[in-house]
Amino acid sequence: MECGIGVWTMADTRTKTLLLAASLSVMMTVVACSPGGEAARPGASEADRSEAQASSPTLAETTDELILRARDFLEPVPVEAPAIEGVTSSPELIKLGQTLFFDPRLSATHSISCASCHYPGLGGADNSPFSAGFHGERGGRNAPTVYNAVFNFVQFWDGRAKDLVEQAGGPLVNPVEMASPQPHVTEQLLALPGYSPMFAKAFPGETDAVTLENAQKAIAGFEATLITPNAPFDQFLRGDAGALTPDQKAGLTLFIDTGCIACHSGVNLGGTMYQKFGVFSEPGPVYLPPDDKGRGAITGNAAEDYFFKVPTLRNIVETAPYFHSGSEPDLKRAVAVMGEVQLGQTLSPEEVDQITAFLGSLTGDQPELVIPLLPVSDAKSPPPDK
Ligand code: HEC
Ligand code: HEC
Repeated sequence: MECGIGVWTMADTRTKTLLLAASLSVMMTVVACSPGGEAARPGASEADRSEAQASSPTLAETTDELILRARDFLEPVPVEAPAIEGVTSSPELIKLGQTLFFDPRLSATHSISCASCHYPGLGGADNSPFSAGFHGERGGRNAPTVYNAVFNFVQFWDGRAKDLVEQAGGPLVNPVEMASPQPHVTEQLLALPGYSPMFAKAFPGETDAVTLENAQKAIAGFEATLITPNAPFDQFLRGDAGALTPDQKAGLTLFIDTGCIACHSGVNLGGTMYQKFGVFSEPGPVYLPPDDKGRGAITGNAAEDYFFKVPTLRNIVETAPYFHSGSEPDLKRAVAVMGEVQLGQTLSPEEVDQITAFLGSLTGDQPELVIPLLPVSDAKSPPPDK
């Protein structure tokens, strides 16, 4: 029998997790298991859990111990795009968002679109430590994937955007990304005659629908469709015990027992909290450049220095290099570093292999994207900046 959410089933990990929780300023739910293995947390009874599972049509009933343990912390990617607060989605809105996502003319030089750094064929990222932006300038952080970003509790490594709508406003005007002065974006959209009717259809009933805010909403509505369901691990969670190889199952067991799950939980195996990079030991200046204080730089609270949003592990094999610093090209090394600095454990090469095999089961169906035809420029459309 296993315990409820946030519960540790092995006696030795229990002590470690309590230590871990004590050393972090972020609240983690840690509930001890009684010696018999019964969940001590009220409300996490076997009856409650099977009720919750019965009400979720996507999770088949199962007696498989590992599936049941994994379900306590992790959820499959839904097959339908989730709704976003403040955005009324429709096929027209998604189409507009997709068009904007691929349109380089939203950048000052007309050379960079969202897709340049969040390339659909590269797992929604760019396989580069730092992305080349405006005039080839590089920002200081690795581009996270846009796939499944809709499930993250906040956006950016430091959480400075509360959701995808707010986030989409950032890169358009960021000087090292697309570098468009704010008015340029709407000016540009108004000067490309094809956009006005698209905005009108996506935002019915609005008289001046071509605004930066609506562009952000449309992009966010499109991004909500960039989800990757049906990974082998999702099939496993839903009840197909044969969907993972024996190595992947061993890796999942380690992922739970060593404590990766304390931070990498939920639909995205991440994206639910901030955590310090370097809980037990210093990752060093290559992985953690001292001038990027992460969350602490946003809040001004020194206790949050070097805290970053725990990133998703979905499709992780496709999105090297790793860490906010883009400093580790090898997923196995990244796993070993995590064991060392986040859990204070030296994982054996076999354990690293098994965990990495498990991470390979997190690759889902990629969105099938057709590169959209963009509205044509005419003589009145503003030229690119030099
Ligand atoms: C020049 C490269 C570049 C361009 C162009 C770019 N991005 Fe990004 N994107 C990044 C980087 C780098 C980050 C991480 C920055 C940070 O966390 O401080 C990021 C972060 C994000 C995130 C947050 C994901 C997460 O998990 O936190 C989303 C969503 C996103 N970008 C969408 C977009 C959209 C939409 C556009 C177009 C409007 C866009 N990006 C244009 C490089 C780029
Ligand atoms: C205490 C919380 C915590 C624990 C425990 C933890 N991680 Fe992480 N993980 C993080 C944070 C925070 C980052 C982002 C680090 C950064 O780049 O700033 C991260 C990053 C990663 C990355 C890189 C992702 C990317 O896109 O760059 C991988 C892979 C990873 N973790 C796997 C694991 C594995 C496997 C374990 C268990 C052995 C584990 N983590 C344990 C918090 C944690």
